[in-house]
Amino acid sequence: MQSPVSICVIGSGYVGLVAAACFAEMGHRVLCVDNDEARVKTLREGGVPIYEDHLPALLAKHRGSAVDFTTDLGSAVESSEAIFIAVGTPQGDTGAADLSYVEAVVSEIARHIHNYKVIVEKSTVPVYTNEWISRVLHRHGVDPENFDVVSNPEFLREGTAIIDFLHPDRIVVGAGNERSANLLRRVYEPLVGGSYYQQPGALPGACSASHPAKLLVTSTQSSEIIKHASNAFLALKISFINAVANLAEAVDADIEDIAAGMGLDSRIGPRFLRAGLGYGGSCFPKDVAAFHWVAQQRGVDFELLQEIRKINETQKDVFFNKVLSALWTLRGKRLAALGLAFKGDTDDIRESPAIDIIKRLVEAGATVTAYDPAANERAKEVLPPSKKLHYANDIYEAAKDADAVLILTDWKEFANIDLVRLNDAVRFPIVIDGRNLYKPQQMVERGFTYVSVGRPASYQAAQGKPRSMVM
Ligand code: NAD
Ligand code: UGA
Repeated sequence: MQSPVSICVIGSGYVGLVAAACFAEMGHRVLCVDNDEARVKTLREGGVPIYEDHLPALLAKHRGSAVDFTTDLGSAVESSEAIFIAVGTPQGDTGAADLSYVEAVVSEIARHIHNYKVIVEKSTVPVYTNEWISRVLHRHGVDPENFDVVSNPEFLREGTAIIDFLHPDRIVVGAGNERSANLLRRVYEPLVGGSYYQQPGALPGACSASHPAKLLVTSTQSSEIIKHASNAFLALKISFINAVANLAEAVDADIEDIAAGMGLDSRIGPRFLRAGLGYGGSCFPKDVAAFHWVAQQRGVDFELLQEIRKINETQKDVFFNKVLSALWTLRGKRLAALGLAFKGDTDDIRESPAIDIIKRLVEAGATVTAYDPAANERAKEVLPPSKKLHYANDIYEAAKDADAVLILTDWKEFANIDLVRLNDAVRFPIVIDGRNLYKPQQMVERGFTYVSVGRPASYQAAQGKPRSMVM
C-alpha cells in the first residue's frame, strides 16, 4: 500500500459503519464518529448495532487498532486528512432531501479545521450540495486554502454491503482539483491498485489483483448526479417489471419467463427485474423523490420519475387486493406474515413494503403473526405487539392455524420452507407470495393454493377450483 490515510467517518449507520470497517480493512487508520452515545458505547464494547454480513468479523478484527469509535467529532476531525460525511439525508416535506444533518455536521467540522482537510460527501445528496458545503465552511471563517470538498457517492446495497464496498462495480469521485482527487486516489488505492485482493484473508468477490476496482474522476456535479441517476434507474427497472407483471397477469403470461427472456438481452441484463411488492428501503423512495425535486428546481421536465413512484405505490395495492381476492374478507382472519425487512439479509425496515402491508391487514380486521429472521425487534418499534399483531420466533410458529401465509420479504430462509411442515401448521394451505419465491406447480403439488405476482394463481385441486386461474 502507498501510504495509509487518516480517515474520519461521521455517522456510524448502514453506510458510515461499513465504510469505516472497510477503510480499516484496506489498511487505513479510521475514527468513526456518531452523536448517538448509546450506539458509540455499543460499538466500543464490541457490539454491532446493525445486521450486515461480514461486519461483525471485520469490526472484531480492527476494533481498537485500525478503527475506533467516538462522539468527539472535533478531535476526530483534527487528527484526520479525509473527513467522510455519512449521516442521513431523509426525504423532506417537499420531496427534497433534508440536508439539515449534513449542515449540522459541516458547521461542527468548520470549528476544527486548522490545516488542509478534504471533506467528502458520502451521504447521497442533490447536485450542488458540494457548493453549499463550501459556502457553509466559508461562512464559518474557514480559510479556503485549508479545505476541498469532494463527492464520493456510495453504491453499496444493504445485506451485501461489505462485499459491495470492497469489490465495487465502480468508485466515483467528483473533485474540483487534482490535490483533493489525489487524496481520494490514495484512499482507494488498495482496491484500484489491487493490493487488497492479494492480502492474506482478503474477502473474496468480483474484483481481483488482475481485475481491480475502477475509479472514475469527474466534476462534483456529475458525481452527485451519477448517484441520484443510478438509484432512479434501478428503481425504474423495478417499476417497469412490476408494470409488466400486472400486464402479464391480465393476459395469462408468466413474469418470471418474461424477465428471464428480457434479461438475456445483454443490453438489458437480468438484474433488478424481479417483480414483487415494489421497492422499499431508506434510499430508492427518497432518492427518486429528491431527484425529481432537483429536476423541477432546474425547470427540467422529468415526469418519468413520478411514474416510477406511482407504479411503486400501486404495487402494494395490487398485492393487498390479491390477499382480499384469495380470502374474500379479512375481519377475523389469522394471517402469517413472513418478512418485515424491506429486503432479505438486512434488519432494516425503513420504507419496507412488508410493514405497510401488515399495517393495512391489521386495519382491515385481520390478526397477523409476523416473523423475520433479523427484523422482529426493529419492527416492534413501529408496530408494537398487540391483540391483533403478534411476533413469532420461526416460520412454523407464525403459520400455526393461519388462514393464509403471506411472503413479504425475499429471505433465503423463506425460499427453503419445509412445505410438509408448513401444510401441517396452517389452517388452510394458502400461500400469497409477494416475492415469487416458489414455482406455482411445485406449490400445487404440495397441496397449496398459491398466489404470486405476475403469474396465474394456482389452486389446489382439492378445493374444487381450476388448477390455474387468473386472479
Ligand atoms: P443511518 O441513519 O443508518 O446512519 C446515519 C448515522 O448518522 C446515525 O447513526 C446517526 O446517529 C448519525 N448522525 C446523525 N447526525 C450526526 C451528527 N451530527 N454527528 C454524528 N453523527 C450523526 O443512515 P445510512 O443508511 O447509513 O445513510 C447515510 C447516507 O448514505 C444517506 O444519505 C443515504 O442516502 C446514503 N446511502 C445509504 C445506503 C444504504 O444502503 N443505507 C447506501 C448508499 C448511500
Ligand atoms: C439500493 C441500491 O441497490 C444501491 O446501489 C444503493 O447504494 C442504495 O440503494 C442506496 O443508495 O441506499 P438497497 O436499498 O440496499 O440498495 O437494496 P436493493 O437491493 O437495491 O433493493 C431495494 C429495494 O428494491 C428492495 O425493497 C428490494 O426488495 C427491491 N427490489 C430489488 C425489487 O423489488 N426487485 C429487484 O429486482 C431488485
